[in-house]
Amino acid sequence: MPLVELKDITKVYGTLIANDKVSLELNKGEILAVVGENGAGKSTLMKIMYGLEQPTSGDIYVNGEKQRFHDPLDAIGKGIGMVQQHFMLIEQFTVAENIVYSKEPRKGMFFDRTAAIRITEELCEKYGLYIDPREKVKNCPVGLQQRIEILKVLYQEAEILIFDEPSAVLTPQETNQLLDTIRTLAGMGKSIILITHKLNEVFAVADRVVVMRHGQVVGNMPIKETNFDELSFLMVGRQLTNTVIPEVEKGAVCLEVNDLHVTGAGSKEAVDGLSMHVDRGEIVGIAGVSGNGQSELIRAITGLLPAESGSVKINGIEVTNLPPRDIRDSGLSCIPEDRYLWGCAREATLEETCIMYLHNKEPLSTGGWLHKKKIHSFVSETLEDFDVRYTSVFQKMGELSGGNAQKVVLAREVMQHSPFLIAAEPTRGLDIGAIEYVHHALLEKKKAGDCVLLVSSELSEVMSLSDRIYVMYDGRIAGEFTRENAVEESLGLLMMGGKLNEA
Ligand SMILES: Nc1ncnc2c1ncn2[C@@H]1O[C@H](COP(=O)(O)OP(=O)(O)OP(=O)(O)O)[C@@H](O)[C@H]1O
Ligand SMILES: [Mg+2]
Repeated sequence: MPLVELKDITKVYGTLIANDKVSLELNKGEILAVVGENGAGKSTLMKIMYGLEQPTSGDIYVNGEKQRFHDPLDAIGKGIGMVQQHFMLIEQFTVAENIVYSKEPRKGMFFDRTAAIRITEELCEKYGLYIDPREKVKNCPVGLQQRIEILKVLYQEAEILIFDEPSAVLTPQETNQLLDTIRTLAGMGKSIILITHKLNEVFAVADRVVVMRHGQVVGNMPIKETNFDELSFLMVGRQLTNTVIPEVEKGAVCLEVNDLHVTGAGSKEAVDGLSMHVDRGEIVGIAGVSGNGQSELIRAITGLLPAESGSVKINGIEVTNLPPRDIRDSGLSCIPEDRYLWGCAREATLEETCIMYLHNKEPLSTGGWLHKKKIHSFVSETLEDFDVRYTSVFQKMGELSGGNAQKVVLAREVMQHSPFLIAAEPTRGLDIGAIEYVHHALLEKKKAGDCVLLVSSELSEVMSLSDRIYVMYDGRIAGEFTRENAVEESLGLLMMGGKLNEA
């Protein structure tokens, strides 16, 4: 008997069928990967399994017994836990306090801090997931915060752990550690569901894979009986094409950064005397392990963080420390790395999100009057172009699937046809079909004689698209490569703070 069985689960939102008679089984000790294009219905299905959403119809069985989950507490009571993608931790609390939160050990009426620390230490020991129980969560890097989420779920005695795109925010090293953890947990008899867009992760850990498309299950097989090509075909329903890099004549300098110093969180020198340039007709990549000043560099260029000293010029115009709108007016658009934090508001509609920044410009408005018809056709066209899956332009951004929200922000920034585009982690959370589309869109910009600064923690992405690559380490440029002389090993070495031999 399977440990968990979902039978004919259907979930309808208005006119949209997010899950269409989905059936799925999970066995004890199994690692099941769930893959599929953006908006396929993966997160919705998991929210139903975890009691965050109610199915329109269909049933859930645990150990053969029919269940009704009214909220996550019901699901937790049956041993189902979910490691949330957007961490739900309380930053001011310590690691131990977060782990025992909502089921705290007590001494009389009072919270028993010593017991909380002991419990955490025992958990760490048992699962081989080490972390200092006394550390404040706000001081923990993303990988450790995720570890706290996992420990928290284990403290709640989960037998089934659901991971929804856990590696999207992790560095490659952290991802490897996570995959190890998943293997260990399965080895101890826990059952795992892993949602991911990265097929290499699927092949690295999964026993079985389920493919979803348009709310339905279109594939379900043991990992040994499938391969990369078959899975990607099932996911996007077509063959992927190879990227062709267009030959483009380099033009004038577009972005010029000179000896830039930026202070980051905790008064650390996040950008430490950095100089670089991007020329028209170029895609320039910044490779680096996240947390080495890339975010601060982008925020300083776009006017969201003050530069202590140094200068930023765009199209020859000095823009250092100007207001963000003025910097944009000099010819910049930007796909920010955190789409919900910097790119949009969850409560805003798709239409509002698409016209942000353009709303007070010709042709969408004149003298403060919005042209409703023009806006409507502009927005529909933009969303169509990027194959965003939505039901109405008046829908809230928060209702879109993660990947589709990312596509809206991307579409808006690319459709501005500005000479200079910053693309930070542009394909994070996207399915392989959408990634192909975005790569194509970036190459089209280059072809049009514009330029792109591509900041990505996916080294393969940087290497396949960039004409030139800067490696960023500890706030500085640790090395510069051309497409021709970029070697993965050398880049990797510099990214980790190593030095290249003069020879
Ligand atoms: N609260 C909601 N209201 C309306 N529609 C919703 C809501 N939640 C999800 N949807 C829709 O259901 C569909 C499935 O979304 P879901 O988040 O399950 O996709 P997904 O497979 O997880 O995609 P991604 O890979 O982009 O995360 C999407 O079209 C989404 O817009
Ligand atoms: Mg999702």
